[in-house]
Amino acid sequence: MGGAEGERGDKTQMNGKILDAINEQIKWELYSSYLYLSMSAWYDSIGLRGFSHWERIQAMEERDHAMKFYDYVLSRGGIIELQAIDAPPSLWESPPEKAFEYQYEHEQSVTAKIDNLVELAHEEHDHATYNLLQWFVDEQVEEEENARTILEKLSMASDEMGMNILFMVDKELAARGYHPLVTPDY
Ligand SMILES: [Fe+2]
Ligand SMILES: [Fe+2]
Repeated sequence: MGGAEGERGDKTQMNGKILDAINEQIKWELYSSYLYLSMSAWYDSIGLRGFSHWERIQAMEERDHAMKFYDYVLSRGGIIELQAIDAPPSLWESPPEKAFEYQYEHEQSVTAKIDNLVELAHEEHDHATYNLLQWFVDEQVEEEENARTILEKLSMASDEMGMNILFMVDKELAARGYHPLVTPDY
């Protein structure tokens, strides 16, 4: 990993520290995609098709987040250095509430990473990156809210009405649509 500005030659207009941090964030967005795809597979295997569908779209959106950073780096003449992605856990405990707790905590950890990036962009006086990151700051508010809202509903599913609530939430999650965030402009 490089560091100082200009190490990658004159072609890049990007600050080396920022470039490294964004390449790292691309890895985290792709890891998030992997994590939610793993959850999607698990929900499918236990017959919760609505949950499975919702997480599959979540996985696609996380990939779009990675691509938003990716396109940004390329548009600034930076060099993409893709990193190894860890395997996500593949076995999830029942009930789904556990998985959503995990998801909520994971999103909070991503928010912390975005906040660190914002601080770095501020310190390095990189206004363009700072601007890009404002989109991610807003997105993380939404991501945490989505996970928390579903978690709240699922926490009501622990009494005798539990199965009804679970299937009601499953039906609700089945209705999620996918709106591509990034489309190649060629
Ligand atoms: Fe993300
Ligand atoms: Fe996310």
